[in-house]
Amino acid sequence: MTANIIDGKAAAERLRQQVGLEVSRLVTEYQLQPGLAVVLVGDDPASQVYVRNKGRQTVAAGMLSLEHKLDVAVPENELLALVDRLNNDPAVHGILVQLPLPGHIDEQRVLQAIDPAKDVDGFHPANVGRLATGDPAAMAPCTPMGCTLMLREQFDGALCGQNALVIGRSNIVGKPMAQLLLRESCTVTIAHSRTRDLPALCRQADIVVAATGRPEMVRGDWIKPGAVVIDVGINRIRFEGEEKARLVGDVAFDEVVEVAGATTPVPGGVGPMTIACLLRNTVVAACLQRG
Ligand code: GUN
Repeated sequence: MTANIIDGKAAAERLRQQVGLEVSRLVTEYQLQPGLAVVLVGDDPASQVYVRNKGRQTVAAGMLSLEHKLDVAVPENELLALVDRLNNDPAVHGILVQLPLPGHIDEQRVLQAIDPAKDVDGFHPANVGRLATGDPAAMAPCTPMGCTLMLREQFDGALCGQNALVIGRSNIVGKPMAQLLLRESCTVTIAHSRTRDLPALCRQADIVVAATGRPEMVRGDWIKPGAVVIDVGINRIRFEGEEKARLVGDVAFDEVVEVAGATTPVPGGVGPMTIACLLRNTVVAACLQRG
């Protein structure tokens, strides 16, 4: 059996179309143009690429994009002052501070300074708590939200009762992913680096979400035939005998594709959905702020 390869690019394109329509409606009916402010500290090349893509897609969806680039050595209080200005700017409905931040800045302090109503990343403890308590107004983190939308599509909405295994317990992916799957009435297990006999646990899962940060860790013989496997990993690896580095996920794609019912490729799977979900969160935030 060969798995259905989930096309994240196409799914993201469909979602961006929906967001674009919603933005047009807000502009024409309410003269409300959603605005997204992205703050980048330093010049990490990967972060620069993400921020550029976010800006382009925000504008393409008809929204206002504001970019703030700060020097790597910016004092924490200056970053906090910028967040405060953005919190109070009525043209800004969503604020994203690109992570990771330089070591001298307390990441949690900055994330907690963002107005929860504008927290389109869903990282503020108020939104984490809302998601955990099942509040539908919770702003959910974009990567796990993108995974959830792709899973809903794969299961035709019938996620209820599925055994889901989330591998990874980060605040950005693993933990919110588990909450979102719980919200879909899955039976959720969270595995991590200390989990015993991960392959055996994995073989029981109808859904596997891999967010380990370890290249190609999830092998084909870990997968229950027909399971849906979502690969959140992005690892740049130079293989022996190859001149150029390649992007690989946390899943051994060539093996898993022979066993799974469906799986996401890297690149072209989860990645494109993350930014599309950010645009979606910005529109939701704008609507909620309008009241
Ligand atoms: N860096 C990598 N992924 C993310 C994300 O989803 N949000 C933010 N703010 N920074 C990131």
